[in-house]
Amino acid sequence: MVYSIAIDGPAGAGKSTIAKKIAKELGFIYVDTGAMYRAVALYLMRNQIAADESAKISQACNEVNVSIEYVDGEQQVILNGENVNGFIRTEEVGMMTSASSKNKDVRMKMVELQRQLASKTSVVMDGRDIGTYVLPNADVKVYLTASSGERARRRYVELTAKGVGCDIAEIETDIIARDHQDMTREFAPLCQAEDATLVDSSDMTIDEVVDEIIKIFNQKS
Ligand code: C5P
Repeated sequence: MVYSIAIDGPAGAGKSTIAKKIAKELGFIYVDTGAMYRAVALYLMRNQIAADESAKISQACNEVNVSIEYVDGEQQVILNGENVNGFIRTEEVGMMTSASSKNKDVRMKMVELQRQLASKTSVVMDGRDIGTYVLPNADVKVYLTASSGERARRRYVELTAKGVGCDIAEIETDIIARDHQDMTREFAPLCQAEDATLVDSSDMTIDEVVDEIIKIFNQKS
């Protein structure tokens, strides 16, 4: 039996940390779909293709091969044979990703890979359109959110701990702009699936959210 748990929500809601923990606890594979879109955006940036050059972006889809591998349980994104995990986490790539992932050709390519993965093995998959578009029959669907202020504060703490200088107000502005772009795009926008459970993590610890989602899974499976 293959199970799937879909976790969608806005930027910085803690989806990946939480999805990773749930996957570990249940023995499922964690699939970070944002990382796949980030790899495509990195390819575009390296090839000087701008976010508004939609014909070039569609063309680039024929040249881009994205796959994933796991090393010590950590997802690695492979872009045309190169492990790009170390290059895709910047705010700059995040903003470009939000713009380039509006492109339907980009999305179709990534969705195919995501569905293939979920058909073979039990997954906890996080993203923006997993419950609404990629895995409409997922066993559990969660829409994970938190206030933009809290999400910016968490990102600030994370970046500062890594020694990256940043401004919390700027982070919040970027988060709001990225969410707006993701929510208003034409194809497969970010929204809560009708059958998804809304979890607001603003005042919850990571473990409380993990326990809550595992409880929902146990009730349903
Ligand atoms: O989750 P993460 O911040 O890595 O996602 C980066 C961007 O990738 C999002 O802002 C969104 O534009 C895009 N994305 C998407 N669909 C997904 C996952 C991510 O459009 N399933």
